Amino acid sequence: MRIDIISVVPDLLKSPFEASIMQRSIDKGLVEVHFHNLRDYSSNNYKQVDDYQFGGGAGMVLMIEPIDKCITYLKSQRDYDEVIYMTPDGETLNQGMANTISLQKNMIILCGHYKGVDQRVRDHFITREISIGDYVLSGGELGALILCDAIIRLIPGVLGNETSALTDSFQDNLLAPPIYTRPAQYNDWNVPEILLSGHTAKIEQWREEKAYEHTRNRRPDLLDK
Ligand code: ADE
Repeated sequence: MRIDIISVVPDLLKSPFEASIMQRSIDKGLVEVHFHNLRDYSSNNYKQVDDYQFGGGAGMVLMIEPIDKCITYLKSQRDYDEVIYMTPDGETLNQGMANTISLQKNMIILCGHYKGVDQRVRDHFITREISIGDYVLSGGELGALILCDAIIRLIPGVLGNETSALTDSFQDNLLAPPIYTRPAQYNDWNVPEILLSGHTAKIEQWREEKAYEHTRNRRPDLLDK
């Protein structure tokens, strides 16, 4: 998978790809990430990329020209499956969307900033608009990182144990059951006996029951889906 991220503050984006699972995905050659500073595509001497909004109102708007230049340049180099815009009024990210997007080969992620982007960018370049939740961030960068993390870990070969992404919370609209590791007893807090029994089928059944119980208590809305 190749991900091209367009931003006015690309420095915000880099370090999460230099550690842990996202770094490993790059080291293994499974993912390529490229950062593009929108200012490099400004035709203005001052590297201006934003301007006041027509009709008045507070807040600057990212202009269409540098975004057009950047996206058109990238598209001249290869085909893209998606051009995603991170915005609080996009479709709220969930595991199903992450699964779908993780199957794509090449994608562009455009990070909004200030008030957002000129609507014509959204009308003519964007294939999918994504929000990471009902709150407003200063820009789309942190949202883009969350999206990248959620999809990269699903790419086959990225996680050491292939099955571990499949047993995550939300994969089957259930929250994950409780998990334990050594020691089996700490103070007088014991790990449930069943998990030490070695009885695989019974353990699976216990985990399923616990997943339902946990989902019913915390997120009953998921059981309606
Ligand atoms: N940009 C600003 N707020 C955002 C959000 N909630 N999700 C995605 N991008 C954003």
